[in-house]
Amino acid sequence: MLDDIVALKKEISTYTVTNLEELETFRLEFLSRNGRVQSMFKNLGSVPKEDRAAVGKGMNEVKQLAQKRFDEAKTVLENSVSQTKSALGDLTLTAPSTPIGSLHPLTKTMDEMKQIFYRLGFTISDGPEVEDDFHNFTALNFPPNHPARDEQDTFFVRKSDDPNMMDLVLRTHTSPVQIRLMENTKPPIRSIMPGRVYRNEAVSPKSYFLFHQVEALYVDENVSVADLKETLITFVKLMYGSDVKYRLRPGFFPFTEPSLEMDIWWGSEKDGKWLEILGSGMVDPNVFDAAGVDSKKYTGFAWGMGVERIAILKYGIDDIRTFYENDIRFLEQFN
Ligand code: DAH
Repeated sequence: MLDDIVALKKEISTYTVTNLEELETFRLEFLSRNGRVQSMFKNLGSVPKEDRAAVGKGMNEVKQLAQKRFDEAKTVLENSVSQTKSALGDLTLTAPSTPIGSLHPLTKTMDEMKQIFYRLGFTISDGPEVEDDFHNFTALNFPPNHPARDEQDTFFVRKSDDPNMMDLVLRTHTSPVQIRLMENTKPPIRSIMPGRVYRNEAVSPKSYFLFHQVEALYVDENVSVADLKETLITFVKLMYGSDVKYRLRPGFFPFTEPSLEMDIWWGSEKDGKWLEILGSGMVDPNVFDAAGVDSKKYTGFAWGMGVERIAILKYGIDDIRTFYENDIRFLEQFN
């Protein structure tokens, strides 16, 4: 057996391959499943026990040798083919592909949200990211000393003691767009307002000083809490599938009464937790009054959804900072 191995090694080392057909013949003879090397392996069982280690080792060497000879011959042949072709340029080649980027997971999530609400009859509106105090706080029924008005929570762009000059802030939520929409549009209104918001918060896996919300406002005669619930439940089922586990619980916001918050179950049945994805409620009559909508005639619902939260649940991301670090290895996963 050992002699056979030595002979085969010799044969392989001296075998000449000058074209692709011969290369294929070589492959069939030595490397294929029914080839000579493989059939030697099949006989290993009949080799006496004490020789088996040496024979096995020899066979492996033969196998590696055949593979090496094959790879070398292949490289040589391919190079010569491409050299011939490159004299003219290879006219059969397809054009080199241009690398294309991928959509950011937040953009993808936002797009999906917009599509769902479009189906539910919502238009899209937007407003400025630098807001005045009136739209960001006062018109939304925040009392004058509410903690959100504090520099600890809010980035101020301009702070003024002059009562004729309003403070300017980076909007802390998308709710001020509701006010702008009502100032400019007569009901019925059914619109979503996606955008960036800013909060003066320490950066951690759970919070960042910038994030995204999708606000919504629906104003008409006889809009009820049942409409709000129905819309929210429809949304989470379209976003996460009809078996999504959700809960609605009472909340508090100055601009809605009553207010509701919605949580989605994150993780496995046993080992998961509730993650809050939105605040919502029935528009407070004070807000209608501040925005010039007849609060006797109209009712409405509103919500503010956290887009990062929605994306975290959709894609199983556990650190909010990964959204903003632009690490290609993270972003590539969303092709
Ligand atoms: N603006 C709230 C926030 O940023 C979220 C919110 C709650 C928006 C209730 C609403 C609403 O429109 O009705 O936390």
